[in-house]
Amino acid sequence: MKAVVFDKKLPEHLANREVEKPVPNADEVLVKVVTVSINAADYRSMRMGSIPKRKIFGSDIAGRVEAVGKNIQKFKVGDEVFGDLSSYGFGGFAEYVTAPENLLALKPAGVSFTEAAAVPMAALTALQGLRNLGKIKPGQKVLIHGAGGGVGTFAVQLAKYFGTEVTAVCGPHNVDLIRSLGADYVIDYSKEDFSIGGPLYDLVLVVNGNNSLSTYRRVMAPKGKLVMLGGGLSQIFNIMLFGWLHSLGGKKMRLLAAKASGEDLEFIIQLVEEGKIKPIINKTFPLDKTAEAVQYISQGHARGKIVINVPHV
Ligand SMILES: NC(=O)c1ccc[n+]([C@@H]2O[C@H](COP(=O)([O-])OP(=O)(O)OC[C@H]3O[C@@H](n4cnc5c(N)ncnc54)[C@H](OP(=O)(O)O)[C@@H]3O)[C@@H](O)[C@H]2O)c1
Repeated sequence: MKAVVFDKKLPEHLANREVEKPVPNADEVLVKVVTVSINAADYRSMRMGSIPKRKIFGSDIAGRVEAVGKNIQKFKVGDEVFGDLSSYGFGGFAEYVTAPENLLALKPAGVSFTEAAAVPMAALTALQGLRNLGKIKPGQKVLIHGAGGGVGTFAVQLAKYFGTEVTAVCGPHNVDLIRSLGADYVIDYSKEDFSIGGPLYDLVLVVNGNNSLSTYRRVMAPKGKLVMLGGGLSQIFNIMLFGWLHSLGGKKMRLLAAKASGEDLEFIIQLVEEGKIKPIINKTFPLDKTAEAVQYISQGHARGKIVINVPHV
């Protein structure tokens, strides 16, 4: 089968190659990949040298079930499925991939393969940050810092879905997009400093950026919560080392480690199907241009999601 294989000897680290088609074991589903989206996890793992066993990245797949192992109960051949395989060795930048059934969910007929592949890691990270750690409640004031990418565009829409007043911080080219997703206030970080002169927020969701914890702390309400999802390494190390110190007293700061969850996937895809949230697709690329697509997203300024189409001839 065709696949995009990590090869550290190449300047772009990714090569289009013919490799063995995987064979599902008794507990696996073989998926014929139709679309696969790229996440920061792909390019960050490449940079850190954390390479999957089969050397094929790509976690968020959507496709059709081609074969099932003998213990598979949930799916049958022909089902349209999607899911996040980052906890199962990636493998999505390819014509076929194997996955355990608990990491997959059925794709509703009304949701396209492109939309379905855009959902898993980005939407679940946003959902788990807002709901699980952030304990988001209607009527709260929520700040979303770094709203322009895959996770951020879902976070803005989910925070509105949960009935909050949303202020989103993004770059100049994303202001109109983020406003169109329902944000009540949009701060262009090239023109305005979010930490000066604004209200205090009940929940601060840090998707991206590189600010000190005390800068974020300044904008938190007395019993406010901060949930950090990502961003520059220094802000991540800071919360790992000093988050507890900034959490003494009423304000709390936590770092999220999102987990793949079939239940959460079903929750999100239903919202997509009902038109309550929509995946924002920045660009699509064919499988043989994956290296170019990864190069584009790794510059850190994608607008929503980048999706790869996998042609089968
Ligand atoms: N904790 C977890 O379990 C988990 C899971 C998934 C992802 N993450 C992390 O979440 C972050 C976002 O992931 P993603 O997939 O959404 O990435 P992405 O699609 O590449 O999005 C990056 C976005 O961040 C914005 N951005 C870049 N620098 C910024 C800055 N200084 N201030 C504000 N916004 C900035 C950019 O928008 P502008 O062009 O508008 O600046 C861009 O659209 C990454 O750091 C990733 O590692 C964490």
